[in-house]
Amino acid sequence: MVATKYLFAGLASIGLAIAGGAADIESSIGKIQDSCVSLSKTLKGFTSDGNVMGTALKLQGEAKDLLDIINDGKDTASNTDNLSSADSDKLEDSVNSLSKSVYTLLDGFVDKKPIFQKPVLGGSADGLVEKDLKDLKGATGGLGKAIESIVTGQLKKDAPKILSGLDKHFDEAIKAFSD
Ligand SMILES: *[C@@H]1O[C@H](CO)[C@@H](O)[C@H](O)[C@H]1NC(C)=O
Repeated sequence: MVATKYLFAGLASIGLAIAGGAADIESSIGKIQDSCVSLSKTLKGFTSDGNVMGTALKLQGEAKDLLDIINDGKDTASNTDNLSSADSDKLEDSVNSLSKSVYTLLDGFVDKKPIFQKPVLGGSADGLVEKDLKDLKGATGGLGKAIESIVTGQLKKDAPKILSGLDKHFDEAIKAFSD
């Protein structure tokens, strides 16, 4: 009986560990990360000996999905009340991990620039990517600012550095596609 009681107490505290707003944000970040990872994977398969047109269209669709998911995350964060420092601390790992996935994604786009310039894509696909990257930069910045404004503690302190690092990386990728 005692064991059962402790088991339930344990489960209850796991359930409460991240509740409400923080859980919603955690879940949004998870979805964004999944979408980034999926897009990076599609990019990896974007090769000149593959189905260039088909994969380019798939990439375009996935980039649009990612944009929508980031904007949803921004709305979620904007509608969340200020988090406790315990909840803020719990988000730190997710935020750092998401930021890493975004870096990987941006590097993936830059690596594939020569394929986006293939004549089979009509010669303007690199311009579409540039626009996608600008849109994603804006959405990511909006999400970051929304999260920054409701957290406290270490994540609040780290946020400006995380955000400026992301901005810089986006700018480099955008520049690569505007050349
Ligand atoms: C939430 O935190 C911000 C500072 O990050 C503060 O300006 C604002 O007043 C807080 N809002 C509430 C409802 O406590």
